[in-house]
Amino acid sequence: MENSITHIWPIGGGKGGSGKSFFTGSLGFLLAKRGYRTLLVDVDLGAANLHTIVGVPHPEKSISDFISKRVGTLEETVVPTFLPNLYLISGAMNNLDIANLAHEQKMKILRNVAKLSYDYILLDLGAGTSFNTIDFFMISNAGIFVTTPEPTSIENIYRLIRSVYFRKIHQVLKTHNFKSLAGEAEKRNPMATVNNPDLLLHVMNELDPEKSALLEHALGAFHFKLALNQLRKQDNQNTGALICKIIEKHLTLKINHIGNVSFDDRVHSAVCKKMPFMELYPYTQTTLDLRECCRMLLSAEEAASPALQNVVD
Ligand SMILES: Nc1ncnc2c1ncn2[C@@H]1O[C@H](COP(=O)(O)OP(=O)(O)O)[C@@H](O)[C@H]1O
Ligand SMILES: [Mg+2]
Repeated sequence: MENSITHIWPIGGGKGGSGKSFFTGSLGFLLAKRGYRTLLVDVDLGAANLHTIVGVPHPEKSISDFISKRVGTLEETVVPTFLPNLYLISGAMNNLDIANLAHEQKMKILRNVAKLSYDYILLDLGAGTSFNTIDFFMISNAGIFVTTPEPTSIENIYRLIRSVYFRKIHQVLKTHNFKSLAGEAEKRNPMATVNNPDLLLHVMNELDPEKSALLEHALGAFHFKLALNQLRKQDNQNTGALICKIIEKHLTLKINHIGNVSFDDRVHSAVCKKMPFMELYPYTQTTLDLRECCRMLLSAEEAASPALQNVVD
């Protein structure tokens, strides 16, 4: 797979318990079953439990071996799972201090994840808008956001998406040396800030149409996805589409709803048995839903240009 493109999908959520790890593990399972070499990386350091969800209760190695330099390369911390093609870098570690990674350590993980050669790399991120979480979204233009239909979870996911998007705009401005132009635009109209991307582009366009077109192109390259997890029958099935509409209206950011994943009590049983849910319960609505999400993600990926992956410097 040396020459193939590695797709990196960071997966985050506004709240713990929304199902990020469940979704990440399930997606990895489906991609591996489709024959893609898939690596799951648990970077929810401090609350790492992806290993349990994919049925590796006691991973021999973890990311902490790399951080603490017990091994020389990140690749050496990869452990196999019971499924061919599915690999894991566990975040489980004894030293809890490591949950608050120094910026340099985090950048080191990001740089080294970006160097790994797999078909798909899925990052299971910590909850919320902490810098620890948002930094990990900077690794690619893709981003999958998982929320439940509860208002508290929706509020948090909105905040998370906004934070990631604004950080990405900052990154684009910095990478392309647009900062001075953005500064000029802000002088002209103090409302034309990163927090107001539409107006920023409008004012920049008056100042320098060519650069502003480049910026617009770079911003259009983000492809964010939303998955609604733990949907019960009585919940509004259109919640995902509604959230996407609100985000588009308030942030002028297009985000695709890739599907609803039904609530099923047996997810809890599978976690307790430390077995992948889809292995135990392949013929359930929740498994069908997850398959559909995977299909949607793959077709969206095909439609997006591979050249859009960012390079972490
Ligand atoms: N679709 C679902 N149906 C039922 N329970 C779910 C579902 N998704 C997640 N859960 C439950 O929520 C718990 C937390 O999920 P997890 O993926 O660990 O959340 P996070 O990683 O976001 O903190 C799981 O242990 C499981 O019991
Ligand atoms: Mg988790």
